[in-house]
Amino acid sequence: MIGTLPTTWLVFAASTLSVLGQTQVTVNLNTQYQEIDGFGISQAFTRANEFKALSAVPRQQGLDYLFNTTTGAGLTIIRMRIGAQTKKANNESFSILPNNPGGPNSPRNYVWDGDDASQVWFTKEAQKYGVTRFIADSWSAPAYMKTNNNVNSGGYLCGVQGRRCNSGDWREAFAEYLVQYVKFYRQEGVNITHLGFLNEPDFTASYESMLSNGQEAASFIPTLYKALQTAALEKEVAITCCDAMGWDTQKGITSAMLSAGMEQYLGLITSHSYTSDPRNIMNTGKLKVWQTEAADLQSRWCTTWYGNGGQCEGLTWANKIHTGIVNANLSGYIYWQGVEVNQFQAASYLVASDGRTVTPSGRLWAFAQWSRFIRPGARRLGTSGAPGSTSVAAFRNSDGSVVVVFTNNGGGQQSVRVGTNGGSFERAEAWVTDNSRAVAAVSVGISGGIATLTILARSVLTVRFS
Ligand SMILES: *[C@@H]1O[C@H](CO)[C@@H](O)[C@H](O)[C@H]1NC(C)=O
Ligand SMILES: *[C@@H]1O[C@H](CO)[C@@H](O)[C@H](O)[C@H]1NC(C)=O
Ligand SMILES: *[C@@H]1O[C@H](CO)[C@@H](O)[C@H](O)[C@H]1NC(C)=O
Ligand SMILES: *[C@@H]1O[C@H](CO)[C@@H](O)[C@H](O)[C@H]1NC(C)=O
Repeated sequence: MIGTLPTTWLVFAASTLSVLGQTQVTVNLNTQYQEIDGFGISQAFTRANEFKALSAVPRQQGLDYLFNTTTGAGLTIIRMRIGAQTKKANNESFSILPNNPGGPNSPRNYVWDGDDASQVWFTKEAQKYGVTRFIADSWSAPAYMKTNNNVNSGGYLCGVQGRRCNSGDWREAFAEYLVQYVKFYRQEGVNITHLGFLNEPDFTASYESMLSNGQEAASFIPTLYKALQTAALEKEVAITCCDAMGWDTQKGITSAMLSAGMEQYLGLITSHSYTSDPRNIMNTGKLKVWQTEAADLQSRWCTTWYGNGGQCEGLTWANKIHTGIVNANLSGYIYWQGVEVNQFQAASYLVASDGRTVTPSGRLWAFAQWSRFIRPGARRLGTSGAPGSTSVAAFRNSDGSVVVVFTNNGGGQQSVRVGTNGGSFERAEAWVTDNSRAVAAVSVGISGGIATLTILARSVLTVRFS
């Protein structure tokens, strides 16, 4: 790179201490990778109820922290839980088909309370911020459709490959039930864009759960696709699979589904991060892939940006997002929960409330450095050059703006000159998060399309060219 710079600049650089050690980073506008759909959270398991029950001021602040692109993270995806409970214990998500119709071919009487454990409220609030991506996921089929006749403790959907029940084959009924959930939301004015029928199918949980491997999933997916077609929704709702516990497990399930010819029916591959993070490429054919549930389940709630590199810290999650998007080709990254009220036992959510105030975490600001600036429809771009200890990722938004995210894990600051190849920009803005700043605007010099910046120690710096 240095060889291509004008001699006069080299002389200037050599004689000016402040520009010594500057690293040149170039964003290649013509090298395009995956499309980005966005970043998000869930409010499943009664968390939307408690959020909704807050008084007006903290409730609005909580929503702003999650979705506002000026003051919050600007999140763009919500993951909903399709509940299978048959009684409203603890305000849980209620099944839309609580009573066994008597058999897979008997008339089904759906019920809809218009609330869905306040998930309807939450999605409608998010729509006010422009959120349009809603991924609804079933943790389990209703008990009477399963081999273990229980919504909890694993079990299989009756009728999938090798799983027979005396009550019959419930695949069509389950598919119709899932599509009916989508229809109820459309009635409320919320268009579910992604529909999943499994959550952690490799884990027998004591709560709602249902098991499946890749072949078993493949013996249901065409039925679900047909049910969407019958409702004329197959172009508007993408079938997702399978939210395995971790990336490495999902790779095996994905491979089995692709071998079984499922690529034509699926719209999205999904994985969680609990047993392994997305760090490398999964073969998904042409399908996009999202990380749909990651969280720190170990630590107590913390707001820290950087302390010792612990799991609850913001910088840790900034690195996880970077690795997932750049090394694992992710198009979406979803933390477990958004706002939780009086649940201080864990760091599995981004914003905490004691019922009167709301407090953002370093993790929220890690998401903000990405989601506020890299908007749905952006494409990841190639880059060359990176300062020491710093990861670089670049994107082009559909409005033409270019966003570069620098994650500096080092204890020293870095100077960079950032330019673009294949197009030039006149305007550059930048925002930084570190131990004393949360997405704070910083001044950035730009001359001849080259921005000059300082990346503070252990910070994320996001630059937007327009
Ligand atoms: C259910 O929600 C209502 C308000 O939405 C609340 O008053 C009630 O305490 C909740 N019940 C439980 C068991 O959490
Ligand atoms: C986001 O926050 C700004 C600043 O408080 C406010 O003006 C704006 O209305 C908020 N946006 C939405 C969609 O609520
Ligand atoms: C939902 O999709 C239908 C088309 O199927 C469209 O007419 C409607 O405007 C959409 N609603 C929202 C809120 O996007
Ligand atoms: C990345 O994902 C896209 C789909 O969004 C896919 O077409 C492409 O092949 C993937 N790239 C790699 C290297 O797997």
